[in-house]
Amino acid sequence: ETTQLKDIVAHAKEYGFVFQSSEIYDGLAAVYDYGPNGVELKNNLKRLWWETMTQLHHDVVGIDAAIFMAPQTWEASGHVAGFNDPLIDNLDSKKRYRADVLVEEKIVALQKEIEGLKFKQSIPNSIPDGTWNSYEDRISEAENMIGLLTTALQIGTPHSLSNAIKQANISEPGTGSTNWTEARQFNLMYSTQGSAIDADAPPVYLRPETAQGIFVNFLNVQKSARMKIPFGIAQIGKAFRNEIVARQFIFRMREFEQMEMQFFVRPGTEGEWYDTWKAARRRFHEALGLPADKLRFHDHDKLAHYAKAAVDIEYEFPFGFKEIEGIHSRSDFDLAQHQHLSRKKQQYFDNDVDPATGKPYGNYVPYVVETSVGADRLFLATLCQAFAEETITEGEGEAQQTKTRTVLRLHPALAPVKAAIFPLVRKDGLPEKAQAIFDDLRFDFRLVLEERDAIGKRYTRQDLIGTPFCIAVDHQTLEDDTVTVRDRDSREQVRMPIAELRRYISEAVSF
Ligand code: GAP
Repeated sequence: ETTQLKDIVAHAKEYGFVFQSSEIYDGLAAVYDYGPNGVELKNNLKRLWWETMTQLHHDVVGIDAAIFMAPQTWEASGHVAGFNDPLIDNLDSKKRYRADVLVEEKIVALQKEIEGLKFKQSIPNSIPDGTWNSYEDRISEAENMIGLLTTALQIGTPHSLSNAIKQANISEPGTGSTNWTEARQFNLMYSTQGSAIDADAPPVYLRPETAQGIFVNFLNVQKSARMKIPFGIAQIGKAFRNEIVARQFIFRMREFEQMEMQFFVRPGTEGEWYDTWKAARRRFHEALGLPADKLRFHDHDKLAHYAKAAVDIEYEFPFGFKEIEGIHSRSDFDLAQHQHLSRKKQQYFDNDVDPATGKPYGNYVPYVVETSVGADRLFLATLCQAFAEETITEGEGEAQQTKTRTVLRLHPALAPVKAAIFPLVRKDGLPEKAQAIFDDLRFDFRLVLEERDAIGKRYTRQDLIGTPFCIAVDHQTLEDDTVTVRDRDSREQVRMPIAELRRYISEAVSF
């Protein structure tokens, strides 16, 4: 049985990973809060990304820029003019839709219809219903319509999308109404009052990407950290987008977190770096436990306003292959734009010698290869990948029983709790012994100590949040200083000296 997103959403809520924002007021659409286990998992993801970038890559340094930036930033970046979604209103329901999404959904519906028609056509003596003379007629009609819609999507203007919606007679999902307005552009940036004192101060935007905080600090970082090209700047932080279509849980949020890295290179070398980062970023996701066959690259046909080449790393969510990370070759677009608008040179002096001329490369505006991954999307991917419902057999002989268990098979490095320590009974000095082990290991790992309930129940609780190890303290522990360590995935137990625990857990939780 395939896992449904709704099972994961329910699990995430029940076990303290993700809550809907302001739930007591029926929530705020597309905004979510992370609970006690969720924040640990998310922090682990962010830490691993950060360490990979700024520690494993010797040529990448980090920054933490503010969310608010000078309003000109977003003029220069192209977001004021170009960061739009085409919107269309239905006059009957007064509801608003993304025109491009309506068109995309129609294409999918037509493709399904064609599949169905081809199947019926293969049945001997079957006669088409409706007004068509033959299956071929309807199939070619649908294929033509797909062609028309695909062209409109590629053009992408509100006008072309409006026309396509009319020509294809696309109706409102659920109501069937075709009473549409013309589509128009809607900017996705949130803005807020810039100054409490100066009434004429322009509004400030909540940044829609963290990248611009890196671009405007390019020279500050390059000079202060004495970086030589090629080098990168990494940042983790919140970004905000007024997404029209908000669905699929934390996949598309209005407030979310990005982990971005801009890699500054000499013009002409961006192609190699694009390939290098593409491969490196895929390896990162595989190392987190996302299997190779559930990851794929997807090249963009339609490029964002800043990009010369772009590829998504997609993960197969329960709702299909979807983007988790984008790798973009941004040329000198951003730095050149900032240089133009700020009138401050955004150049680098490269004293490496160009073999073609025998002279230093000299001054240039660097090119940028960017890697950009959503912390929340990566969180959702790891949660979907880890979530497992399995049938297991427990006990021996007469007492044997089968049951289902839910377990989060998280990479141990990501698990919110690394080990749980259980005294078998609440007497005979076992709780004190368990406490002593806990106190010894708590500086190294995030642990829980649980005394209540039957041991089986305690194991179950840890499986549900993905704790890789459960350490049981029993009477034998008092005699020989050994404990049993139960493995979350195999449910097998091994007996080992207490003195071994630190090394054993360390090895497993390292990345
Ligand atoms: N600086 C480039 C940039 O922002 P993007 O493709 O728009 O590129 C990069 O976003 C990543 O940010 C996406 O791959 C996704 O993981 C994440 N992201 C974008 N919009 C999001 C949203 N509304 N909710 C959650 N994550 C989002």
